[in-house]
Amino acid sequence: MKHNLLEICYLIGSITFIIGLKMMGNAKTARKGNLIGAAGMTIAILGTIFLHEGCISATIFGLIFGAIGLGTAIGWMTAKKVQMTKMPELVSMFNGMGGACAALISLIEYNHLRHAAEELPPFALAAMAMMGGASMMYGTMLAIIAGLIIGTISFSGSIIAYLKLNGTMNQPIRLPKYNVINTLVMIGVFTFGGYIVVTGGSSMLVYLLFAAAIVYGVLFTIPIGGADMPVVISLLNSFTGLAAAFGGFLYSNKIMLTGGILVGSAGTLLTLIMCKAMNRPLSNVIFGAFGGGSATAGTTDIKGSIKDIQVADLAVLMNYSKRVVIVPGYGLAVAQAQHVIHELELLLEERGVEVKYAIHPVAGRMPGHMNVLLAEANVDYGKLIEMDDINPEFEQTDVVLVVGANDVVNPAAKSDPASPIFGMPILEVDKAKNIIINKRSMNAGYAGIDNLLFYDPKASMFFGDAKKALTELVAELKTME
Ligand code: TAP
Repeated sequence: MKHNLLEICYLIGSITFIIGLKMMGNAKTARKGNLIGAAGMTIAILGTIFLHEGCISATIFGLIFGAIGLGTAIGWMTAKKVQMTKMPELVSMFNGMGGACAALISLIEYNHLRHAAEELPPFALAAMAMMGGASMMYGTMLAIIAGLIIGTISFSGSIIAYLKLNGTMNQPIRLPKYNVINTLVMIGVFTFGGYIVVTGGSSMLVYLLFAAAIVYGVLFTIPIGGADMPVVISLLNSFTGLAAAFGGFLYSNKIMLTGGILVGSAGTLLTLIMCKAMNRPLSNVIFGAFGGGSATAGTTDIKGSIKDIQVADLAVLMNYSKRVVIVPGYGLAVAQAQHVIHELELLLEERGVEVKYAIHPVAGRMPGHMNVLLAEANVDYGKLIEMDDINPEFEQTDVVLVVGANDVVNPAAKSDPASPIFGMPILEVDKAKNIIINKRSMNAGYAGIDNLLFYDPKASMFFGDAKKALTELVAELKTME
């Protein structure tokens, strides 16, 4: 009876994960989708605790609920206070914890398996071997060791990604021939794991494997530049999903298996989508030197001439436009200017101007960053137009207002084969009749490279912090009829 109820809990959990994930594909339903997934997870956790076969002592109950309470409190407080721009750091830390859990499960289950085998009398072992028990043992060992290696790599890699994103470790560290060293270490770790599966190993060897996988996770992540961290986090996320799925095999637990597979496949797909949006193969992200500078890379050399525009002139230009396209970027998130940009949009629309937002798939620092940011300010989702759909419209656009975006509008991606972003699809804002760029200085964006758009004869710089500059623009527009 208990077992059947538990299976039903797992079924409900699995269904809610799938429904929740589907709902997260749309900004309007994403929040609800997240809650549905969390509700399913709660049902699965409570089901596991209360419907588990065998009795659990009061001390164990105390430990379980103490750990859940502590984890919930830390997770809740951290997620509540985190700024939107720091979200990738939080995701990498949470992902690292997921990897660590998978690795700990493997370490504990390895010891359980060993003790169980040691306690069996020799004749029982022989009987087991005859009945195919040996292959079952290998299967269990394989799930334990694979979960240990992959979970540990995800754990140590995510911690390095976290340190890179928060600026503690902002320079990539590349040992000479790091690609060769990393490949050899990876082969070494997996061969060592294979040896333990085949021979049964020992606790000491398993701890050594754990240490070796930690080293590989670090070596894998340290050479990669800060700019590529979101891609790496998504890849490590898929590793954690895989490690959790091995846990599902180990316990024959369907919810762990479903959850792990969903995380693993979603992480893999997201990684590939990001690579496609940057027009770079995954191998180039892992082995290439792109984004080698710090996340806040240096100042560009000013070539040619730029012109700037004052707020009063910009207000006139926008007031008398028919079509305006706003291009949001990372700087909009930093300045937290999403509310004032929405105010600007509404004000222009009151004056009969058509306003749309052009969304680049990798604008900002995390997938869907601009969508989430603008949704927070209640911008109508229908006004967010994806790159492929908005690009043909720029020619008919009177004013394109680029706010805190840089790399995603850099024409070098199309015109300069020597540029590190050459081939990356961009928002073709240079086709608009007037280009206004709001940023604080001539500093480079994430890729650390100069932007020729700033020197376009149709372009004018509207310097200043996005929130302050747009607030002034809105105030100026309000003085005009
Ligand atoms: P960036 O190219 O990073 O440019 C952001 C610009 O915002 C900077 O040039 C900065 O110039 C400006 N800025 C910063 N603070 C500002 C503020 N308070 N007010 C106004 N402007 C401000 O941003 P992007 O165009 O959004 O491109 C995203 C980059 O991240 C791409 O290179 C992309 O490949 C990379 N990336 C993104 C992702 C995802 S998933 N989104 C994943 C991997 C890599 P100033 O300092 O002069 O103000």
